[in-house]
Amino acid sequence: MSRQDDMLRTAKEVQLGNYAPAPFVLTHGRGRRVTDAAGREYLDLSGGISVLSVGHSHPILASAIGEQAARLMHVSNIFYNDRAIELAEAICARSPFDKVYFCNSGSEANEALLKLARRYHYDRDETKRIGFVSTHNSFHGRTMGSLSVTGQAKYRKGMGPLLQDVQFIDFNDVAALDAVVSDETAAVIFEPVQAEGGIIPATAEFVREARRICDERGALLFLDEIQTGYGRTGRFLAQEWFGVVPDACSLAKGIGGGFPLGAMAVTDRVSGGLPPGSHASTFGGNPLACAAGLAVLHILDEEGLIENARRLGEYLAGRLFELDGRLEATAGTRGMGLLQGLILADEVDPLATIAAIHRAGLLLTLAGGHVIRVSPALNVTKEELDEGLAILEGVLSDAPRK
Ligand SMILES: Cc1ncc(COP(=O)(O)O)c(C=O)c1O
Repeated sequence: MSRQDDMLRTAKEVQLGNYAPAPFVLTHGRGRRVTDAAGREYLDLSGGISVLSVGHSHPILASAIGEQAARLMHVSNIFYNDRAIELAEAICARSPFDKVYFCNSGSEANEALLKLARRYHYDRDETKRIGFVSTHNSFHGRTMGSLSVTGQAKYRKGMGPLLQDVQFIDFNDVAALDAVVSDETAAVIFEPVQAEGGIIPATAEFVREARRICDERGALLFLDEIQTGYGRTGRFLAQEWFGVVPDACSLAKGIGGGFPLGAMAVTDRVSGGLPPGSHASTFGGNPLACAAGLAVLHILDEEGLIENARRLGEYLAGRLFELDGRLEATAGTRGMGLLQGLILADEVDPLATIAAIHRAGLLLTLAGGHVIRVSPALNVTKEELDEGLAILEGVLSDAPRK
């Protein structure tokens, strides 16, 4: 038995069966390439599902983490640390937000948003304002709170009862939003691009009307930028494309470049919403994670990666559009920047197709069950996109049928 087969057998014995990973074990990565335990190299255009903003093992990120680990890894939140202050300042300087709270994941960042909304209204004697409005097909995380505002039955199955007082409307349906936001709504939350739901961008009208409706009714507006933030759509935050500033937004995935880090960024309006002691995280804002966050920002600037995401995002969208025109196995494309989706036709088997793509040496993931998601590192090159698209076309020309 090969070393890789041996590891796969051990994985089945000792790892919880809540994932169904592809049948190889990744051991090394550099740039947009990863290698498995059998020595096979793959081109990674999945970007770790929008996490690897600066690619695998970027030397500047790796040494920033190493140096910080040797200097100061953790202090409790009873004490300030320099890195958290610097990172919060850097995020505020690049965004319309005034204050930042750090945590460790996207779910936690959304959990913080929900608690912020409840406590903010409570402190204003608006005790009836406890409801949330979210969208069908959304994904906001797996903790009980974030799951409660996640609008997909498959993630909620068997997990109830979840938070009550959550109403779901169709994404991009302004009339539906207008009909449900009331004086009992604490906050409206949605993603600028529904990512796990199948790479569905919000319309500018929906985002702008959401701001107007929330303002009119006294509800808070939250955007979940966990998959879209930190440059992925070609702007620092996707909300910039719509010219809308929410009261707060959640960030995670790409902000640590692979190091676990989440954040909630808020405007002054709600910055006092969580008074001392009302919310906390042991690891949140630890110097090591924040050093990673700072290094990612440094690399984005030095290498012009947000501009690269915009330029190559347009290129990728154009190439996927052409591909879709040539192929019978696909049924359209959609996305923003370097978060693009190629929709598989009904008769194509998505799981068998993604497995065939992996076997062909290309790492991509599915979104929404039937959409091939292309979300590479923001430092991907045109040549790498071309190489990946050629592999993709080869597989889809003879795509496995259901
Ligand atoms: C938009 C969005 N929100 C929240 C989450 C949850 O993040 P995490 O898995 O880090 O808890 C994800 C993860 O896929 C996401 O895409």
